[in-house]
Amino acid sequence: MAKKQNNTKASENIGAQPRLHQRAAEIQSYGTVSHALPLELEEPVRLEMTEQLNQLLADTMTLRDLYKKSHWQVAGPTFYQLHLLYDKHHGEQDELVDSIAERIQLLGGVSIAMAADVAETTQIERPPRGREEVPVQLSRLLDAHQVIIREARTLARRAFTLGDDGTNDLIVSEVLRTNELQAWFLSEHLVDVPLVEAKKASAIAGAS
Ligand SMILES: [Fe+2]
Repeated sequence: MAKKQNNTKASENIGAQPRLHQRAAEIQSYGTVSHALPLELEEPVRLEMTEQLNQLLADTMTLRDLYKKSHWQVAGPTFYQLHLLYDKHHGEQDELVDSIAERIQLLGGVSIAMAADVAETTQIERPPRGREEVPVQLSRLLDAHQVIIREARTLARRAFTLGDDGTNDLIVSEVLRTNELQAWFLSEHLVDVPLVEAKKASAIAGAS
């Protein structure tokens, strides 16, 4: 009789039933950094860097999503090339998102992650849900790049001053360089040049 009771107890502990619907308190709050990481960076430095990196992360996630929206909704004679270009830039921004987020975790912080939290944090203007024409798409994307480039330059200088060389390198080598290059590729699409017939020199002279 005693042996049967033991068997019943063992089967309760090692059953194949997954433990579903679990909830518990957070193990670390957003906006904090964990202690005693062997990085030779003081806690106040890691706190400031992770806060600024989270702003950059929220804006980079928003730009990444703006590229996918543009990729899906683009229309007009340049559909094919822009459809492909937008998706290439989306992929590159997605890599930046991962690099920034993992830098925050490495520094002991907590990366912002979910769309609702990103929407509350980003400084990039929210576009409408509907479709917009190509010049507006390009202008929105360029405005977003400008926000990120400005933040990146400020953050890189601050990281250098505080001795956080890893963050400085990430921001300059990856974030800044990628955003500058993408902004150039977009900007050239907004130069008003003829598609089929060159403007006559006399027409240009007459207009000036
Ligand atoms: Fe696609």
